[in-house]
Amino acid sequence: MPLKTKISAVARTNARPETANGPGVHQGQTADATPPLSAGLRAMRPTVKSVVVFSMFINLLMLVSPLYMLQLYDRVLSSRSEGTLISLTIIAGMLLAVYGLLEMVRTRVLVRAGLLFDEMVAQPVFNAIHRAMLRRPDGGQVQTLRDIDMLREFLTGAGLIAFCDAPWFPLFVFGAFLLHPWYGWIAIAGGLVIWSLTLLNEILTRRDLAESAIASMTATQHAATTFRNVEVLQAMGMLGALRSVWSRIHQHHMGWQARASDRAGTLIACTKFFRTFLQIIILGTGGYLCIHQEITPGGIIAGSIIIGRALMPMEMAVGNWKGFVAARGAYRRLKVLFMVAGGTVSRMSLPRPKGAVSVEGAIATAPGQKEVILRGITLALPAGEVLCVVGPSGAGKTTLARILVGIWPIAAGALRLDGYDLSQWDSQELGQYIGYLPQDVELFSGTVAQNINRFQDDIDPEAVIAASELAGCHEVIQSMVDGYNTQIGEGGQALSGGQRQRVALARALYGNPSLVVLDEPNSNLDSAGEEALTSAIQALKAHGTTVVLITHKVNILAIADRILVMAGGAVQGYGPRDEILGKLMGPRVVSPAAAAPVAPTATGGVATTTAPSGEPSRVLAHISPGPSR
Ligand SMILES: Nc1ncnc2c1ncn2[C@@H]1O[C@H](COP(=O)(O)OP(=O)(O)OP(=O)(O)O)[C@@H](O)[C@H]1O
Ligand SMILES: [Mg+2]
Repeated sequence: MPLKTKISAVARTNARPETANGPGVHQGQTADATPPLSAGLRAMRPTVKSVVVFSMFINLLMLVSPLYMLQLYDRVLSSRSEGTLISLTIIAGMLLAVYGLLEMVRTRVLVRAGLLFDEMVAQPVFNAIHRAMLRRPDGGQVQTLRDIDMLREFLTGAGLIAFCDAPWFPLFVFGAFLLHPWYGWIAIAGGLVIWSLTLLNEILTRRDLAESAIASMTATQHAATTFRNVEVLQAMGMLGALRSVWSRIHQHHMGWQARASDRAGTLIACTKFFRTFLQIIILGTGGYLCIHQEITPGGIIAGSIIIGRALMPMEMAVGNWKGFVAARGAYRRLKVLFMVAGGTVSRMSLPRPKGAVSVEGAIATAPGQKEVILRGITLALPAGEVLCVVGPSGAGKTTLARILVGIWPIAAGALRLDGYDLSQWDSQELGQYIGYLPQDVELFSGTVAQNINRFQDDIDPEAVIAASELAGCHEVIQSMVDGYNTQIGEGGQALSGGQRQRVALARALYGNPSLVVLDEPNSNLDSAGEEALTSAIQALKAHGTTVVLITHKVNILAIADRILVMAGGAVQGYGPRDEILGKLMGPRVVSPAAAAPVAPTATGGVATTTAPSGEPSRVLAHISPGPSR
């Protein structure tokens, strides 16, 4: 099997359980949370073995140069034989060519191993970041994508080679002993001193570097958040204040960094001094031994080279120590990421749901928080009905939407879709049956069409147009510069607030979902947009789609089959529209539409309470009568 195919096959086998599952899944997790990482590292093992073998030959061939020099001094110069010189040179040249070839092959093996590692780890890490972000949104997990690169670069670059070369230190020491025992002892003592200095460096700088890395990460995150809200900074002159916050964290980072660099600088200077002085000692010892005729003059040079070779892996390890520390940090962060993200198990595919929702005593908290937001919500919504959720700000409406679509898991109670507990669904699979329009519209950088078809590989123009027609934004999109191919920029910044909301509605309606949850879909809409929304919901209802609509506007309630009134994270009222509206409006509704309290008019809703009194009316007091524009 060609390597590329093999890589893909292995990667697919390992990636499958990860991609099959998504966020919000807390039950039936696998015990070992880091299998992709361990599998990726296990896959590197054969490479490490072959690199060790290659390194053995490469290190042996490194002896060509000192041996050649020895022969040059001892044979050629004494015999003055040109023939010997030529043959020695040809042999050395050929051996060095083999050396070059082996170096090349070793590098190629490492590059392939890097690709394999990346294929096995990158996608699971991407998935894990997704799960971890849902569970701990402030964890800064996105940077772990860079950690894969850091780890891979170390494992497939000079770092690993240095560590694979280290075992050949004894070989060169042996060579040094053969030349003269004194050389052997010098190599051992030199190696020990260099290694001790490195360890000392590690011990003295470890804490400073760790603190500095944390501060640096916090500063970067703070800066990223600051610049995301650049318009607010500009409008209200907040730059200075936020810069001071960033600057404090940055200086903290610089302080730790400077401490670490000071200590490391001293030790590096000591190492450099020692290494140069060692060279003098080696040559001096050679001179002394030569005077006493224990070695030949060629031996002086050969000794210097062979000890240099012996110490080289050691020095390379020292030189790559920083990379090693960085890779170790990256490995630890990746491990933590997989721990936070949790393992996944593959789930049996379930049939397309009809959309019946049942919530029983659902209690929910925000991820990683203890404070209860939803306090025992119970409701049953038959498939194909439209539920409008109303309630004051902070009532928990958005939280309810989040649990309904499986973004946040519930802490207690039950949440079923077509009788199946939400945790029994593979969340990625379930996603195609769900349409969700979040309160803060989140679009992705790409074209309008890509956003509507949820970034699936193949754009199905008919489905995209059908969704946007259903959402009533087909004409709006057609009138854009590039129509459906308009690039909407990061987060959809090239669109107006209303356009964003309508494109997001089309995305929610794409692919005939069974359950559509719309969180204040009309907050930015003009009256045409509201009408389009109303017709879209009517069309969905006719199609048998279950719709949950969160709103602050009363005129849209006319479309509801049922109304849920929420306050303080609990159900204040739930039932058929007219019954709930009757309760909400109370006996003192003064309106021409009293008989049909919520019938929308051309100018907007008219069902307003003139003198709200009692608890239910207070609950409805936040609802605005109609379109804002
Ligand atoms: N990510 C979060 N972390 C912590 N608390 C949160 C989080 N999201 C919401 N809350 C809290 O949960 C409560 C309900 O918030 P939620 O967003 O569900 O309200 P809402 O009814 O949608 O309000 P609005 O009408 O203003 O959109 C609020 O008190 C809020 O502080
Ligand atoms: Mg909300």
